[in-house]
Amino acid sequence: MKVTMLMAQTLDGRIAKSSNHFPDWTEKADKKFFKSRTKESGVMIFGRTTFDTLPGVLPGRFSIVISRSAGAWDERAENLIFTSLAPAEILKKLKSLGFSNPILCGGTTINTLFARENLIDEIIVTVSPKIFGDGLGLFSPEISLDLALEKFEKLGENSLALFYTVKK
Ligand SMILES: NC(=O)c1ccc[n+]([C@@H]2O[C@H](COP(=O)([O-])OP(=O)(O)OC[C@H]3O[C@@H](n4cnc5c(N)ncnc54)[C@H](OP(=O)(O)O)[C@@H]3O)[C@@H](O)[C@H]2O)c1
Repeated sequence: MKVTMLMAQTLDGRIAKSSNHFPDWTEKADKKFFKSRTKESGVMIFGRTTFDTLPGVLPGRFSIVISRSAGAWDERAENLIFTSLAPAEILKKLKSLGFSNPILCGGTTINTLFARENLIDEIIVTVSPKIFGDGLGLFSPEISLDLALEKFEKLGENSLALFYTVKK
């Protein structure tokens, strides 16, 4: 099982201006990259706050939404599961369903929940040609991860994808 965290950020390291800020500020090539990586994986993991910013369930992939108010594994609609299970339990469940590379899709709180349990294997960050000056980062509160840069790719005209392995 390999967990890939996939996030878009501005050049000044912000993933959103606030908790209810929908990530519609990325370039077309970035959106295409997100769609292709998540479709290849087949499953995305979101925090409930992030899921609430989306217009609906993204088609063609499973969405796992982490919420304290959910049951262990609530099937709310086709391809949509709400769960209050701990990250390691969610990964066990996904493995049993045949998924080998789930994509962790934020936000800050849920990324940190997985990072604290050392469950993130790869981090892909796309850098958008934007500055927000303030807002949310990839993780909070404090954590410490050591990374190795594997490669980078230009996406479209102005964006970049950075691929890191998490050293364990
Ligand atoms: N730029 C990007 O690529 C990107 C990607 C994703 C998100 N974002 C942005 O990030 C922001 C949201 O981040 P966020 O940190 O505010 O929220 P989040 O991580 O998306 O979700 C937080 C929610 O997860 C649930 N939760 C937290 N701890 C839990 C635990 N221990 N067990 C079970 N459930 C738990 C809670 O939901 P309940 O209240 O239901 O319990 C909590 O409100 C949005 O603005 C979004 O647009 C940006």
